[in-house]
Amino acid sequence: MQGQTPPNDPTLRRSVVEMDARAIDGDPVSIPSPPVGDGAGHAGPHRLDAAPTEHWVSYAHGGIPDYLAKHYWWAYLSRFGVRFFDREPIISAILFGNYRRLVDRTLGLLKRGKIGRTLQLTCVYGSLTPHLAEYVPAEDLHVVDVAPIQLEATRRKLTRQAGGSRNIARMARMNAESLAYADNSFDTIVIFFLFHELPAAVRERALTEALRVLRPGGRLLITEYGQYTKTHPFHRLRPLRRIFGALEPFLPGFWKEDLTARISARSWIYAKRLSDALEERIFGGFYRVTQYRIAAADALGASPQLTGPGA
Ligand SMILES: C[S@@+](CC[C@H](N)C(=O)[O-])C[C@H]1O[C@@H](n2cnc3c(N)ncnc32)[C@H](O)[C@@H]1O
Repeated sequence: MQGQTPPNDPTLRRSVVEMDARAIDGDPVSIPSPPVGDGAGHAGPHRLDAAPTEHWVSYAHGGIPDYLAKHYWWAYLSRFGVRFFDREPIISAILFGNYRRLVDRTLGLLKRGKIGRTLQLTCVYGSLTPHLAEYVPAEDLHVVDVAPIQLEATRRKLTRQAGGSRNIARMARMNAESLAYADNSFDTIVIFFLFHELPAAVRERALTEALRVLRPGGRLLITEYGQYTKTHPFHRLRPLRRIFGALEPFLPGFWKEDLTARISARSWIYAKRLSDALEERIFGGFYRVTQYRIAAADALGASPQLTGPGA
Protein backbone atom coordinates (compact mmCIF):
# COMPACT_ATOMS: atom_id res chain seq x y z
CA MET A 1 0.00 0.00 0.00
CA GLN A 2 1.59 3.24 -1.03
CA GLY A 3 1.78 6.07 1.43
CA GLN A 4 1.66 3.72 4.36
CA THR A 5 4.22 1.91 6.43
CA PRO A 6 5.48 -1.08 4.46
CA PRO A 7 4.67 -4.43 6.10
CA ASN A 8 8.32 -5.50 6.08
CA ASP A 9 9.49 -2.41 7.93
CA PRO A 10 11.95 -3.97 10.43
CA THR A 11 11.63 -1.10 12.88
CA LEU A 12 7.97 -1.68 13.62
CA ARG A 13 7.32 -3.42 16.90
CA ARG A 14 3.67 -4.06 16.10
CA SER A 15 1.90 -4.07 12.80
CA VAL A 16 0.50 -0.61 12.26
CA VAL A 17 -0.25 -1.16 8.61
CA GLU A 18 -3.73 -2.51 9.11
CA MET A 19 -4.34 0.06 11.81
CA ASP A 20 -3.20 2.77 9.45
CA ALA A 21 -5.49 1.77 6.62
CA ARG A 22 -8.55 1.48 8.81
CA ALA A 23 -7.80 4.71 10.63
CA ILE A 24 -7.43 6.69 7.45
CA ASP A 25 -10.67 5.27 6.18
CA GLY A 26 -12.23 6.58 9.39
CA ASP A 27 -13.31 3.30 10.96
CA PRO A 28 -12.84 2.61 14.65
CA VAL A 29 -9.40 1.38 15.45
CA SER A 30 -7.88 -0.08 18.54
CA ILE A 31 -4.57 1.49 19.37
CA PRO A 32 -2.15 0.80 22.17
CA SER A 33 -3.07 2.76 25.29
CA PRO A 34 -1.41 3.14 28.65
CA PRO A 35 -2.96 1.26 31.57
CA VAL A 36 -6.28 2.53 32.82
CA GLY A 37 -6.11 4.39 36.12
CA ASP A 38 -2.68 5.88 35.52
CA GLY A 39 -3.90 9.35 36.41
CA ALA A 40 -3.05 10.82 33.03
CA GLY A 41 -6.61 11.49 31.95
CA HIS A 42 -6.24 9.04 29.11
CA ALA A 43 -9.18 7.94 27.05
CA GLY A 44 -11.33 4.94 27.85
CA PRO A 45 -15.08 4.95 27.52
CA HIS A 46 -15.45 3.32 30.93
CA ARG A 47 -13.62 6.07 32.75
CA LEU A 48 -14.78 9.28 31.14
CA ASP A 49 -15.05 11.89 33.80
CA ALA A 50 -18.07 13.64 32.30
CA ALA A 51 -21.79 13.45 31.86
CA PRO A 52 -22.62 11.73 28.56
CA THR A 53 -24.55 14.84 27.57
CA GLU A 54 -21.43 16.98 27.38
CA HIS A 55 -20.65 17.78 23.78
CA TRP A 56 -16.99 16.77 23.81
CA VAL A 57 -17.84 13.22 24.93
CA SER A 58 -19.01 12.46 21.41
CA TYR A 59 -15.38 12.94 20.26
CA ALA A 60 -13.84 10.80 23.02
CA HIS A 61 -14.15 7.37 21.51
CA GLY A 62 -12.10 4.91 19.50
CA GLY A 63 -8.78 5.71 21.14
CA ILE A 64 -9.05 9.51 21.21
CA PRO A 65 -7.54 10.63 24.54
CA ASP A 66 -10.07 12.36 26.75
CA TYR A 67 -7.91 15.50 27.28
CA LEU A 68 -7.83 15.93 23.50
CA ALA A 69 -11.59 15.51 23.13
CA LYS A 70 -12.39 17.67 26.13
CA HIS A 71 -10.07 20.62 25.54
CA TYR A 72 -9.33 20.55 21.83
CA TRP A 73 -12.27 18.93 20.02
CA TRP A 74 -13.06 22.25 18.36
CA ALA A 75 -9.47 22.71 17.14
CA TYR A 76 -8.38 19.23 16.06
CA LEU A 77 -11.28 16.81 15.94
CA SER A 78 -14.18 18.66 14.33
CA ARG A 79 -14.43 19.03 10.55
CA PHE A 80 -15.04 22.74 11.04
CA GLY A 81 -11.89 23.07 13.17
CA VAL A 82 -9.69 21.43 10.56
CA ARG A 83 -11.15 23.55 7.74
CA PHE A 84 -10.90 26.75 9.74
CA PHE A 85 -7.50 26.41 11.41
CA ASP A 86 -5.50 24.78 8.64
CA ARG A 87 -4.80 28.13 6.95
CA GLU A 88 -1.63 30.08 7.27
CA PRO A 89 -3.17 33.51 8.12
CA ILE A 90 -5.13 31.94 10.99
CA ILE A 91 -2.13 30.07 12.40
CA SER A 92 0.02 33.14 11.99
CA ALA A 93 -2.51 35.24 13.92
CA ILE A 94 -2.57 32.66 16.73
CA LEU A 95 1.22 32.82 16.92
CA PHE A 96 1.31 36.64 16.87
CA GLY A 97 2.77 36.74 13.38
CA ASN A 98 5.62 34.35 14.15
CA TYR A 99 4.47 31.26 12.26
CA ARG A 100 6.73 31.70 9.22
CA ARG A 101 9.72 32.42 11.39
CA LEU A 102 9.04 29.36 13.54
CA VAL A 103 8.76 27.09 10.50
CA ASP A 104 11.87 28.62 8.89
CA ARG A 105 13.94 28.19 12.07
CA THR A 106 12.75 24.63 12.49
CA LEU A 107 13.73 23.81 8.91
CA GLY A 108 16.98 25.75 9.38
CA LEU A 109 17.94 23.50 12.28
CA LEU A 110 16.80 20.42 10.37
CA LYS A 111 19.19 21.25 7.53
CA ARG A 112 22.14 21.77 9.89
CA GLY A 113 22.71 18.06 10.44
CA LYS A 114 22.04 14.62 9.09
CA ILE A 115 18.29 14.35 8.45
CA GLY A 116 17.89 10.64 7.67
CA ARG A 117 14.82 8.73 8.68
CA THR A 118 12.47 11.29 10.18
CA LEU A 119 9.40 11.16 12.38
CA GLN A 120 7.02 14.07 12.64
CA LEU A 121 5.36 13.38 15.96
CA THR A 122 1.74 14.40 15.34
CA CYS A 123 0.21 16.33 12.51
CA VAL A 124 0.29 20.10 12.42
CA TYR A 125 -1.67 22.76 10.63
CA GLY A 126 0.06 24.81 7.95
CA SER A 127 2.97 24.08 5.69
CA LEU A 128 5.51 22.39 7.94
CA THR A 129 4.84 18.85 6.71
CA PRO A 130 4.87 19.76 2.99
CA HIS A 131 8.18 21.57 3.65
CA LEU A 132 9.58 18.53 5.46
CA ALA A 133 8.59 16.43 2.46
CA GLU A 134 10.89 18.61 0.32
CA TYR A 135 13.89 17.53 2.40
CA VAL A 136 12.99 13.99 3.37
CA PRO A 137 12.22 11.27 0.79
CA ALA A 138 8.71 9.82 1.11
CA GLU A 139 9.99 6.44 2.30
CA ASP A 140 11.93 8.10 5.14
CA LEU A 141 9.28 10.54 6.35
CA HIS A 142 6.86 9.18 8.96
CA VAL A 143 3.94 11.14 10.36
CA VAL A 144 1.79 9.84 13.19
CA ASP A 145 -1.23 11.20 15.00
CA VAL A 146 -3.95 9.79 17.21
CA ALA A 147 -6.75 11.53 15.29
CA PRO A 148 -7.79 10.04 11.92
CA ILE A 149 -9.17 13.41 10.77
CA GLN A 150 -5.72 14.95 11.19
CA LEU A 151 -4.02 12.16 9.25
CA GLU A 152 -6.56 12.64 6.46
CA ALA A 153 -5.87 16.37 6.34
CA THR A 154 -2.11 15.80 6.19
CA ARG A 155 -2.50 13.15 3.53
CA ARG A 156 -4.55 15.59 1.43
CA LYS A 157 -1.90 18.30 1.75
CA LEU A 158 0.94 15.96 0.80
CA THR A 159 -0.97 14.36 -2.06
CA ARG A 160 -1.79 17.80 -3.47
CA GLN A 161 1.86 18.83 -3.18
CA ALA A 162 2.94 15.58 -4.88
CA GLY A 163 0.62 16.34 -7.82
CA GLY A 164 -1.80 13.56 -6.88
CA SER A 165 0.87 10.92 -6.38
CA ARG A 166 0.25 8.45 -3.58
CA ASN A 167 3.94 8.12 -2.91
CA ILE A 168 3.92 10.43 0.08
CA ALA A 169 5.04 10.14 3.68
CA ARG A 170 4.29 7.00 5.69
CA MET A 171 1.36 7.91 7.89
CA ALA A 172 0.04 5.84 10.74
CA ARG A 173 -2.40 6.27 13.53
CA MET A 174 -0.57 6.05 16.84
CA ASN A 175 -0.72 7.48 20.29
CA ALA A 176 2.45 9.44 21.05
CA GLU A 177 2.48 7.79 24.47
CA SER A 178 2.96 4.35 22.97
CA LEU A 179 4.64 4.38 19.58
CA ALA A 180 4.67 1.20 17.51
CA TYR A 181 8.24 1.72 16.31
CA ALA A 182 11.23 -0.25 17.52
CA ASP A 183 13.88 1.40 19.66
CA ASN A 184 16.37 3.57 17.75
CA SER A 185 14.27 3.81 14.57
CA PHE A 186 14.80 7.48 13.65
CA ASP A 187 17.63 9.90 12.98
CA THR A 188 15.42 12.95 13.46
CA ILE A 189 12.19 13.60 15.31
CA VAL A 190 10.28 16.84 14.73
CA ILE A 191 7.80 17.92 17.40
CA PHE A 192 5.98 21.15 16.60
CA PHE A 193 3.84 22.69 19.35
CA LEU A 194 2.70 19.36 20.76
CA PHE A 195 3.99 19.25 24.33
CA HIS A 196 2.15 22.30 25.68
CA GLU A 197 -1.12 20.65 24.66
CA LEU A 198 -0.53 17.52 26.75
CA PRO A 199 -1.22 16.93 30.45
CA ALA A 200 2.07 16.62 32.35
CA ALA A 201 2.00 12.81 32.70
CA VAL A 202 1.13 12.34 29.02
CA ARG A 203 3.88 14.77 28.08
CA GLU A 204 6.38 12.76 30.09
CA ARG A 205 5.37 9.52 28.37
CA ALA A 206 5.37 11.05 24.90
CA LEU A 207 8.81 12.52 25.50
CA THR A 208 10.10 9.19 26.80
CA GLU A 209 8.74 7.40 23.74
CA ALA A 210 10.40 9.93 21.43
CA LEU A 211 13.71 9.31 23.21
CA ARG A 212 13.25 5.56 22.88
CA VAL A 213 12.69 5.59 19.12
CA LEU A 214 15.46 8.13 18.43
CA ARG A 215 18.84 6.66 17.50
CA PRO A 216 21.94 7.59 19.48
CA GLY A 217 23.48 10.39 17.42
CA GLY A 218 20.01 11.53 16.38
CA ARG A 219 18.28 14.85 16.92
CA LEU A 220 15.04 15.96 18.51
CA LEU A 221 13.80 19.23 17.01
CA ILE A 222 11.25 20.80 19.30
CA THR A 223 9.38 23.99 18.47
CA GLU A 224 7.37 25.24 21.41
CA TYR A 225 6.42 28.02 23.75
CA GLY A 226 9.44 29.26 25.67
CA GLN A 227 9.86 28.65 29.35
CA TYR A 228 8.22 31.09 31.76
CA THR A 229 10.23 34.24 32.48
CA LYS A 230 9.66 37.07 34.89
CA THR A 231 10.38 39.58 32.15
CA HIS A 232 8.33 38.77 29.05
CA PRO A 233 5.18 40.97 29.04
CA PHE A 234 3.00 38.02 27.98
CA HIS A 235 4.19 36.11 31.03
CA ARG A 236 4.02 39.04 33.39
CA LEU A 237 0.49 40.23 32.66
CA ARG A 238 -1.94 38.18 34.67
CA PRO A 239 -4.99 38.83 32.41
CA LEU A 240 -2.98 37.58 29.43
CA ARG A 241 -1.79 34.54 31.37
CA ARG A 242 -5.42 33.80 32.22
CA ILE A 243 -6.47 33.99 28.57
CA PHE A 244 -3.66 31.66 27.54
CA GLY A 245 -4.55 29.30 30.38
CA ALA A 246 -8.22 29.27 29.37
CA LEU A 247 -7.45 28.44 25.74
CA GLU A 248 -4.50 26.16 26.46
CA PRO A 249 -5.12 24.52 29.84
CA PHE A 250 -1.77 22.67 29.96
CA LEU A 251 0.35 25.63 28.85
CA PRO A 252 0.81 27.19 32.32
CA GLY A 253 2.23 23.87 33.57
CA PHE A 254 4.44 23.55 30.50
CA TRP A 255 5.74 27.11 30.96
CA LYS A 256 7.12 26.13 34.35
CA GLU A 257 8.71 22.89 33.19
CA ASP A 258 12.41 22.64 32.41
CA LEU A 259 12.16 20.66 29.17
CA THR A 260 15.92 20.37 28.75
CA ALA A 261 16.24 18.86 32.24
CA ARG A 262 13.39 16.43 31.49
CA ILE A 263 15.05 15.31 28.26
CA SER A 264 18.35 14.88 30.01
CA ALA A 265 16.74 12.83 32.80
CA ARG A 266 14.55 10.65 30.55
CA SER A 267 17.35 9.82 28.08
CA TRP A 268 19.06 7.63 30.66
CA ILE A 269 16.16 5.18 30.67
CA TYR A 270 17.30 4.02 27.23
CA ALA A 271 21.03 4.27 27.90
CA LYS A 272 21.21 7.56 26.03
CA ARG A 273 22.15 11.03 27.09
CA LEU A 274 21.56 14.60 25.99
CA SER A 275 24.85 15.63 24.44
CA ASP A 276 23.94 19.20 23.54
CA ALA A 277 21.04 21.55 23.10
CA LEU A 278 20.96 24.45 20.67
CA GLU A 279 18.14 26.85 21.38
CA GLU A 280 16.89 29.76 19.26
CA ARG A 281 14.55 32.12 21.03
CA ILE A 282 11.85 33.85 19.07
CA PHE A 283 9.57 36.76 19.94
CA GLY A 284 11.62 37.65 23.01
CA GLY A 285 11.73 34.04 24.15
CA PHE A 286 7.97 33.54 24.10
CA TYR A 287 8.68 30.81 21.56
CA ARG A 288 11.73 28.64 21.07
CA VAL A 289 13.09 26.24 18.49
CA THR A 290 15.52 23.77 20.02
CA GLN A 291 17.72 21.04 18.67
CA TYR A 292 18.52 18.36 21.22
CA ARG A 293 21.28 15.98 20.19
CA ILE A 294 21.10 12.60 21.85
CA ALA A 295 24.12 10.31 22.21
CA ALA A 296 24.68 6.82 23.53
CA ALA A 297 25.15 7.02 27.29
CA ASP A 298 28.52 5.35 27.14
CA ALA A 299 29.88 7.76 24.52
CA LEU A 300 32.43 10.19 25.90
CA GLY A 301 31.77 13.88 25.48
CA ALA A 302 30.90 17.13 27.12
CA SER A 303 28.11 17.29 29.66
CA PRO A 304 24.77 18.71 28.45
CA GLN A 305 24.82 22.44 27.89
CA LEU A 306 22.48 24.92 26.32
CA THR A 307 24.01 27.00 23.55
CA GLY A 308 22.67 29.39 20.99
CA PRO A 309 22.05 33.04 20.34
CA GLY A 310 19.50 33.45 23.09
CA ALA A 311 21.01 31.06 25.62
C1 LIG B 1 0.91 19.03 17.18
S1 LIG B 1 -0.36 19.47 18.19
C2 LIG B 1 -0.59 21.19 17.81
C3 LIG B 1 0.04 21.77 16.65
C4 LIG B 1 -0.16 23.20 16.35
N1 LIG B 1 -1.18 23.86 17.12
C5 LIG B 1 -0.41 23.25 14.88
O1 LIG B 1 -1.35 22.62 14.41
O2 LIG B 1 0.37 23.86 14.21
C6 LIG B 1 -1.90 18.89 17.66
C7 LIG B 1 -1.96 17.46 17.19
O3 LIG B 1 -1.57 16.58 18.20
C8 LIG B 1 -2.40 15.43 18.13
N2 LIG B 1 -2.30 14.72 19.41
C9 LIG B 1 -2.63 15.17 20.65
N3 LIG B 1 -2.38 14.23 21.58
C10 LIG B 1 -1.84 13.17 20.93
C11 LIG B 1 -1.34 11.89 21.33
N4 LIG B 1 -1.34 11.52 22.61
N5 LIG B 1 -0.86 11.08 20.39
C12 LIG B 1 -0.84 11.42 19.09
N6 LIG B 1 -1.32 12.60 18.64
C13 LIG B 1 -1.79 13.47 19.54
C14 LIG B 1 -3.76 16.00 17.79
O4 LIG B 1 -4.61 15.02 17.22
C15 LIG B 1 -3.40 17.10 16.81
O5 LIG B 1 -3.39 16.65 15.49
